[in-house]
Amino acid sequence: MPTPLIAGNWKMNGSLTLVEDFGQAFADADLPEGVEMALMVPFPFLQAAGRAFAGSRLALGAQTLSDQPSGAFTGEVSGEMLRELGAGLVLVGHSERRTLFGEDDAAVLARVRAALVVGLRPVLCLGETLEERDAGRTEAVVLGQLEAVCDALAADERTRLVIAYEPVWAIGTGRTATPQQAQAVHAAIRTRLAAYDAGLAEGMQLLYGGSMKAANAAELLAQPDIDGGLVGGASLQVDDFLAICQSAG
Ligand code: G3P
Repeated sequence: MPTPLIAGNWKMNGSLTLVEDFGQAFADADLPEGVEMALMVPFPFLQAAGRAFAGSRLALGAQTLSDQPSGAFTGEVSGEMLRELGAGLVLVGHSERRTLFGEDDAAVLARVRAALVVGLRPVLCLGETLEERDAGRTEAVVLGQLEAVCDALAADERTRLVIAYEPVWAIGTGRTATPQQAQAVHAAIRTRLAAYDAGLAEGMQLLYGGSMKAANAAELLAQPDIDGGLVGGASLQVDDFLAICQSAG
């Protein structure tokens, strides 16, 4: 069984005060054993978060990275810079990056490679739009996004991924996928991973994201192929995020 992982994605939200609040709360909290926890904070908060989370079990993550190692790329942030600030994880291919910033499968793959080369764990996000789901194309879309990355990686690189299934229609909408809907897609992802390698499929942390909150986390996390969560809005509230982490234990 993969180790459960609950990761929060603050997106372009939060503050230095909130960073301190989370550090304090997670240092003091009674947290379940055997659950990994992480927060993906905006770039400007990474250094403070690294310090604030040092006394807790919260790992540090970023929300994107450049596909380039360095150079004249104004406004970009490299994987090496993220490592230097203490990040261990980085989101890649989040639907907001795909749709709002035009990151296609090739761009996602390039960022996965950029993360792997510096030792960051890429959290590869996959998900279908409502139109794609209504057209019966959920699996084709999600597995297509998965293959666009996994086909190009070496076997040992695939094992360093985390995968997050985030149906686009459930992100920030309050409309969560039912546990059955999420489980069905997770099972399809795991089956596809098994075609690469059985051990890869068994060990892969498959996270669900899309309006996960304290009230629905336990039911989603109880599904056999859901190994954790990627939490947006509810990761901005200390008590909600703590409760979700506790329900993963
Ligand atoms: O990456 C997390 C995410 O996109 C889900 O956001 O606010 O629906 O939990 P939210």
